[in-house]
Amino acid sequence: MTTRRLVLTRSAAIVGAASTGLLLPEIVRAQSSKVRVGLMLPYTGTFAQLGVAIENGVRMAINEKGGKLGGREIEWFKVDDESEPSKGVENASKLVQRDKVDVLIGTVHSGVQMGLHKVARDSGVLTLIPNAGVHAATRAQCAPNVFRTSFTNSQPTLALGKVMVDKGHKKAVWITWKYAAGDEAFEGFKESYTKAGGTIIKELGLPFPNVEFQALLTEIAALKPDAVACFFAGAGAPKFIRDYAAAGLKGKIPLYGSGFLTEGVLEAAGPAADGIITTMHYSDSLDTPRNRQFRLAYAKTFRMQPDVYAVQGYDTGQLLVAGATAVKGDLNNKPALYKAMERAVIDSPRGKWTMSKSHNPIQDMYLRVVENKENKVVGVAMKALADSGAGCKMA
Ligand code: PHB
Repeated sequence: MTTRRLVLTRSAAIVGAASTGLLLPEIVRAQSSKVRVGLMLPYTGTFAQLGVAIENGVRMAINEKGGKLGGREIEWFKVDDESEPSKGVENASKLVQRDKVDVLIGTVHSGVQMGLHKVARDSGVLTLIPNAGVHAATRAQCAPNVFRTSFTNSQPTLALGKVMVDKGHKKAVWITWKYAAGDEAFEGFKESYTKAGGTIIKELGLPFPNVEFQALLTEIAALKPDAVACFFAGAGAPKFIRDYAAAGLKGKIPLYGSGFLTEGVLEAAGPAADGIITTMHYSDSLDTPRNRQFRLAYAKTFRMQPDVYAVQGYDTGQLLVAGATAVKGDLNNKPALYKAMERAVIDSPRGKWTMSKSHNPIQDMYLRVVENKENKVVGVAMKALADSGAGCKMA
């Protein structure tokens, strides 16, 4: 607080001092204050592991570049959003109003994101979304100060439908948590699966973060589809995978999903996950120097294996460094800051990617299969996939 008030007072003084030749020392002082970075992530509940992986990734990318942003040191602020949508606005306001952050990084859950997004749009604070895929954030409600480094909810599943039809699965059941992430993942799946000639015979759902799958699995057994496609993530995913096998469906009705189903959960899921096919913008097994180097460094630093969430956090850090460096730490130079972030080519462990006009990654979608606790890459299901950005009115 003290630092910030000091800076504000001094910048007010600059106006008066401008004509007197006293400007330089004042500006230097303002520029050398710390950048206040807020992390709004889930640190408890179903998505706790995702929040930790994202924070690790952000810090790793920034530390690799000297631990500063455009030459300025960082002061960190953290809020656990608990993946609780009803507290989204309040939690984001804690960082923006109370802590006066210059940069807001968050979050994971699409419902919570909508609260954060309101605060981001109302305040104009620079915001980076390291996971939540809710369409509105980079479609109808896109904003110049909001950048997503992850995906839109329909991106992974837009690559999934054709894969399933090509494998001869003409009738599918879809199952998910009923909230924006699941519903929008379904939109992508429906578009790609029906366009390829498949028929969705039933949509099943349960509220987030419920994991009582039994009745729905019994229904799937009775429906006898050619295959099942789903969206589940975090702690719910290995439970679904194990319950699917325990219900006797594994080996009878092939299980597909957007790749979150098998991210960071393969130890917990065990052999029940073998053979699950998914589409995703990353895979542990990508055999590139960039990915190998990233995985080694992450494992050494954090004593755990990275997953897609760690990669998204890492790219969030990389994008922030790129923007801050371009403006030499002057995050108030918004036109130059945004331009640099829009033009950045992110050299990601997932492969190089760029920003779409609506501020969402244009990226490859890999086809993966689980083998021995690893997501093995089988190929590229879709090259340079951009979200439609429908309704985004940014120039
Ligand atoms: C979301 O709510 O947008 C969400 C959460 C977890 C994921 C993917 C999307 O793995």
